[in-house]
Amino acid sequence: MTNKTYQLLNPETGDKATLPLRVPTLGPSVVDIGGLYSDQGIFTYDPGFAATAACESKITYIDGDEGVLLYRGYPVEQLAEHSSFVEVAYLLLYGSLPSADELSSFERSLRMHTMLHESLLRFFNGFHYNAHPMAMVSGVVASMSAFYHDTMNLKNPKHIDIFAHRIIAKLPTIAAAAYKHSLGQPFMYPQNHLDYCSNMLHMFFAVPAEEYEINPVAARALDLLFILHADHEQNCSTSTVRLAGSSGTNPYSAIAAGISALWGPAHGGANEAVLTMLNQIGSIDNIEKFVAKAKDKSDPFRLMGFGHRVYKNFDPRAKLIRKMCHEVLAELGDQNDPMFELALRLEEVALKDDYFVEKKLYPNVDFYSGIIYRALGIPVSMFTVMFAIARTVGWVAHWSEMNADPGGRIGRPRQLYTGPGLRDYQPVDMR
Ligand code: SDX
Repeated sequence: MTNKTYQLLNPETGDKATLPLRVPTLGPSVVDIGGLYSDQGIFTYDPGFAATAACESKITYIDGDEGVLLYRGYPVEQLAEHSSFVEVAYLLLYGSLPSADELSSFERSLRMHTMLHESLLRFFNGFHYNAHPMAMVSGVVASMSAFYHDTMNLKNPKHIDIFAHRIIAKLPTIAAAAYKHSLGQPFMYPQNHLDYCSNMLHMFFAVPAEEYEINPVAARALDLLFILHADHEQNCSTSTVRLAGSSGTNPYSAIAAGISALWGPAHGGANEAVLTMLNQIGSIDNIEKFVAKAKDKSDPFRLMGFGHRVYKNFDPRAKLIRKMCHEVLAELGDQNDPMFELALRLEEVALKDDYFVEKKLYPNVDFYSGIIYRALGIPVSMFTVMFAIARTVGWVAHWSEMNADPGGRIGRPRQLYTGPGLRDYQPVDMR
C-alpha cells in the first residue's frame, strides 16, 4: 500500500473523490475504486477489462510491451530450458520450486490419480463419434463434480490438494479417451511407470494389438509446449474460472467453465483456427491476398494466431515455439513441412506490413504450436484440448488463490444501462 491517492473531480456535483493508489511488485499501479459507487454514486466503464485489475495475484506476471512472462518470478525462457511441466505445475500451485523430495512426492501423487472412474469412462460412449473433443472434455470434466464428494470442503487444504492433483492428473486421460472415442479405437489405460507426457502419448497412440515405443523427442516437445501454455495471468478462461469459483461452486465445475471459455477462436481455439487458416491460404502465392483480407474492415477474416490483448511485442512463447518447430520437424516431421514454411512466410509478410506494425500485431502462442502438434501426430481437432491440459494447472492455481482469499467476495460486475426508461404495460389492443 502507499499513501499516494488519485483525486477524481465529479463534474456533476463538483465533489472530489480521493481514491487510494496501490503499488505492485511489478507492472502498473492500480487505483482502488472499491468505494467509488458508495461515495460518488458512479461506476467505472471498461468492457473487455482492458485496463481493469479484477484481483490481486502472486502467480504470473506479463509485461506486454517488453514481451516478458514470469511464473512466480521465474522467466518462462529459463523454465522452458531447465524445468519440466510437472515441476512448473508445482511452482504455479505452491509458489516455489520444489526440493527433490517434494517433486518426487508430487509426481507420485499425480501418477496415483491418472485413472478415471469406470462410470465416467462410459460417458464417452454416449457422445456421437464426431463430437468435437472440446465438447466431450468440458462435459466429462464438469461431470467429475458428480463423482468426487469426498473432498469438497473448500476450506480443507487436504481436500484442495486432492482436487488439484486429481484434475491435473486426469486431464490427459480424459483427453486421450475423447481422442480414442473419435477414432473408434479402444481406450488405453494410463501406465504409471511413465512420466506425465510419455503417459499421455501412450494413451493417445498405443493400441492393444502391438507395442508402442515412446519417442523421447516427442515427449520433450510436449513437455515444453505444456510449460509454455501452463498459465497466463488473468486471461479470458482463467478469469472465467475465478468468476465461476467466486460463487463457491464445485471446483470441477469452475474448471469446466474455463474449458468452455478457452474453446473460443479468439482464445485457445485459435491454435485450431491457425491450421484451418493455413490450409485455407494453401500456398505462399496467396499470402498477400489473405493479408489484405485481414486488413479489410469489411471482411471478418482475421489472421489467426496474430495479435494479443496484452503483448504489443513478440509473445515470448511464440518465439520459443517457433524455435522448437525447427528441432521437432528435423526429428519427427518433414523439415520442409509446407505448413511451417507457409507460417514462416506469413509472419515475415505480416510483420513488414504497416497495418500489423502500427497495431502491434505479432504472432502469439497459438501461431506455431499447431505445427508441432501436427508433427507429433495430434489431429487439429485436439489442439485446443492440448491447450486445456496445460492450462488446467494455471486454472487450478488461480482458483486456489481466489478460494484462499480471506476478503474474497462473489464477482458481480455492474453495467452502463442504455435500455428503455420506466414505462407502463400496454394491453395488446392498445399497442
Ligand atoms: C490466446 O489473454 C491471453 O493471455 C490469451 C492467451 C493465453 O495464454 O491465455 O495468450 C491465449 O488467447 C492468444 C490469442 C489467440 N487468438 C487469436 O490469435 C485470434 C486472432 N487475434 C484477435 O482476435 C485479437 O488479436 C485478440 C482477440 C487476440 C485480441 O483482441 P483485442 O485485444 O480485443 O484487440 P482488438 O480486437 O481490439 O484488435 C485491435 C485492432 C483492431 O483494429 P481496429 O478496430 O483498432 O482498427 O487490431 C485488429 C483489430 O481489428 N486486429 C487484427 C487482429 N487482431 C487484432 N486484425 C487482423 N488480424 C488479427 N489477428
